[in-house]
Amino acid sequence: MSHDAIVLCRLDEVLEGQSRGFDPLDTGKDSVFALRHEGEVCVYRNSCPHLAVRLEYRKDRFLSVDGRQIVCYAHGARFLPDTGLCVYGPCLGERLSALKWHAEADWLVLEAGQLEAYAS
Ligand code: FES
Repeated sequence: MSHDAIVLCRLDEVLEGQSRGFDPLDTGKDSVFALRHEGEVCVYRNSCPHLAVRLEYRKDRFLSVDGRQIVCYAHGARFLPDTGLCVYGPCLGERLSALKWHAEADWLVLEAGQLEAYAS
């Protein structure tokens, strides 16, 4: 595994229709979240395009009740899980920031350089 990669979790820990938050920079707040939608894993920065606040209402709860959309609980924006496109709410037409990841063995691995830019 390269030295600048960040292991988030095992891939099988991101279940279909569910999401998980992560704090890879050890800030005490989840700055990244992952979800699985129709079998595909997507990873986004945990920052709403509307006011740059975190989206979840509590730990690991980023999705609508039916698991089919990402929800920002500040003002109710909704996003498509596979593209991050906002389809409802004050940031309609904007997108969540997708993060590049890859699988190494059975692990979900994020490139650290993406987060350093985010933290500054
Ligand atoms: S901060 Fe997300 S919808 Fe307003």
